[in-house]
Amino acid sequence: MLLAFETSCDETSAALAHHGRVLANVVSSQASLHAEYGGVVPELAAREHLRNLLPVARAALRQANVSPAQIEAVAATRGPGLAGALLVGFKAAEALAFVLRRPFLGIHHHEAHLFSPWIQGNPPTAAFSEFEPNVSLIASGGHTMLAHVESESKHRLLGSTVDDAAGECFDKVGKLLDLPYPAGPQIDRLAEGGNSAAFSFPRPMLNEANDDFSFSGLKTSVRYFLRDRPGICGDPQRLRDLAASVQAAIVEVLVTKTLRAARRLGVGCVTASGGVACNRALRQGLAAACSRQGLKLRLADPGLCTDNAAMIGVVAERKLMRRAETTSSGADILPNWPLE
Ligand code: KG4
Ligand code: ZN
Repeated sequence: MLLAFETSCDETSAALAHHGRVLANVVSSQASLHAEYGGVVPELAAREHLRNLLPVARAALRQANVSPAQIEAVAATRGPGLAGALLVGFKAAEALAFVLRRPFLGIHHHEAHLFSPWIQGNPPTAAFSEFEPNVSLIASGGHTMLAHVESESKHRLLGSTVDDAAGECFDKVGKLLDLPYPAGPQIDRLAEGGNSAAFSFPRPMLNEANDDFSFSGLKTSVRYFLRDRPGICGDPQRLRDLAASVQAAIVEVLVTKTLRAARRLGVGCVTASGGVACNRALRQGLAAACSRQGLKLRLADPGLCTDNAAMIGVVAERKLMRRAETTSSGADILPNWPLE
């Protein structure tokens, strides 16, 4: 019975995992708190984690009907992430493991995202017996990256964004359109009724022979587009067309570069996670492209795309089963921990 915490950004989460089964996964999002600032304020996030961590942990124990004495191991996100935010969950988990005299594991946030597409069903259960080598896309508000996942213990970063993350691009474009933060889900909904070919926006780095991304130029081109067409957002249909056209540019870059990497590396499977992987056009785009190219696709469940402790718990449990090294007492958080 493993208790896991995730506090790397603006979600406070606690989960219980038992033999690959997620017995509880409680997530308390701070998104509305940060909304008035248009993005995550690190100091506020840390304070909010302090306030929420124990209630969230208690709620997870209650949901799973587990008592603290039944906990056999404790895990938490060690990095990368916001330093103050990471500290709260990591040090709380370490203290708990010390008091309960149980092993403690500090988990890499992106390694957990890489395996979240393998957790499926109700209750969510890890299907590692189905695992196969894949190219994995992680697209969130803070990160956009591609990794080659050869096995549970071997993965390699292929490329990442050189400036803004895909989610950041959705959010910043949303700000230009006066949509509330985080704007990704709103643009997704608006785009449904829009024509994605109405306006043409750049597809940054689409044809470059690497696995990196860039999204800040796209955001800038939307700013100039709006400057030259004042009032366009007042027309509901034009606003939907604009949302669909911007979304199409982001999705095309993500899908094309993910599939290109998969083909080049000769894997038979593609996976995707992170908040932006909730986007319906991206899910459909990946599904269509994988089906055309005869590749399997595993998308993380929308509830496990955004940050959550379930993925931390499942990966930690697998590490314990492989007898991987535990994290020693007094270890530090690693806010810039590279994936390798
Ligand atoms: O994984 P996540 O919770 O991590 C970070 O906090 O980085 O992702 C949040 C990001 C936000 O930028 C949000 O706008 C975006 O994911 N997002 C979406 C959708 N749902 C969430 N972007 C596009 N379409 C969506 N449906
Ligand atoms: Zn994340």
